Amino acid sequence: MDAARLAGLQVGVATSAYQIEGAVDRDGRGPSIWDIFGAQPGNIRNGDTGEHAAAHYDNVDTDIALLEWLGVDVYRFSVAWPRIQPDGTGTANPAGIGFYDRLVDELLERGITPNATLYHWDLPQALQQLGGWPERDTAERFAEYALIVGRVLGDRVPVWATLNEPWVAAFIGHHTGEHAPGIRDDQAAVAAAHHLLLGHGLAAQALRTVTTGKVGIVTNPTVVWPASDRAEDIAAARLVDGVRNRWWLDSVVHGAYPDDVLEVFRTVADTSCIRDGDLEIISTPLDWLGVNFYTPEQVAAGGRGGRPIGPGLDGLSHPPLEGKRTTMDWVIKPEALTELLVRLHADYGPTEWWITENGAASADAPAADGAVHDPVRTDYIERHLTAALEARDRGVPLAGYLVWSLLDNFEWAEGYEQRFGVIYVDYQTQERLPKDSAHWLRALLAARDQRDPSDRSPVR
Ligand code: FCB
Repeated sequence: MDAARLAGLQVGVATSAYQIEGAVDRDGRGPSIWDIFGAQPGNIRNGDTGEHAAAHYDNVDTDIALLEWLGVDVYRFSVAWPRIQPDGTGTANPAGIGFYDRLVDELLERGITPNATLYHWDLPQALQQLGGWPERDTAERFAEYALIVGRVLGDRVPVWATLNEPWVAAFIGHHTGEHAPGIRDDQAAVAAAHHLLLGHGLAAQALRTVTTGKVGIVTNPTVVWPASDRAEDIAAARLVDGVRNRWWLDSVVHGAYPDDVLEVFRTVADTSCIRDGDLEIISTPLDWLGVNFYTPEQVAAGGRGGRPIGPGLDGLSHPPLEGKRTTMDWVIKPEALTELLVRLHADYGPTEWWITENGAASADAPAADGAVHDPVRTDYIERHLTAALEARDRGVPLAGYLVWSLLDNFEWAEGYEQRFGVIYVDYQTQERLPKDSAHWLRALLAARDQRDPSDRSPVR
């Protein structure tokens, strides 16, 4: 692609704490819901756990050197709540916050902008024992934690996200139970959905008191196409759009839950957890909105092909879309990203938009020549980046594009089988090896910056 098209766009890579750090019992860290969930046989593919992950905690210097070698503008990481408040409450654990404090300094020293997410699904287990996100108090605890982190890092982190993908935390965590805490209960799912958003609003307000950095939220909206132009399929797609997209963004941006979704949730749960004044907190003004995008969805009324995820969506289906797929079985449709961004900007703008995650899993392994050839990933990133720039050309104020992920890592219920990194990780030795996609990204950024890609010392 033409590197000059990247002018004005911040390009980077993303990770999350639990997926890369390992060192789960180091320096006073408390257990998270993912430690407990992962320890239960049958929850994670191949019996994997997040115990060691990509050992980033012990290899942070190498990983920062890799970021510098790539030449990225931005690094999005998440802060592990159980490192900061091992029991989910009280003052900061100095060793825990110290890890991120140093990380931020090291990034800044190399001219890399830190983009910090406060919650990427690793709730302290102590708070789960008190009820977790289905309990209102967890939202208050989250704001307390946000304040602690903001006080320490707020002077240096210019871009903040409160939550990552609350739809996943609420519904895959409490409706399908495929993610921690592994609950299958619609009442819990709906309450978690609301309290996550309340926690977001309270945390956004708390951050405002301690940082001048930009505050936002990361959701995972997608386009939801009806399987046909039959009225039932159009209505089904509209409802799934509500559960997946409008529930989160109507509330955060416009201060109201969509009536059609509320109505459906009320068929399976009591919504009295939504109190007067909550939506004002949830719609605390933000500076930016983050979009994690991987694949579009197709929805039909009735039929076969998997069920859309969310409380009250029984009787709807997901007929698979035609096309090439990644090893996650996610269909590759870059044009959906352009459509999505244009729609989001129309419905939820004006604001600054970031693609906070986008990438592909493939079955990567070092080849006989010692390299890791991942053409599907490079092609995926190039086509989605182009699709995002197309949306910018159509007027969407796109500030940044971040690849998921810097490293191969713990892909939640999929364990280590799915590899998303531009850097290959050998989990036996924890050695890192840039894949072809990393070399491609590095060359692209070097061309954009008109520097010789060999001017930065290669990483082993
Ligand atoms: C997103 C998550 C991220 C990663 C990618 C593949 O839903 O935010 O942690 O698992 O999917």
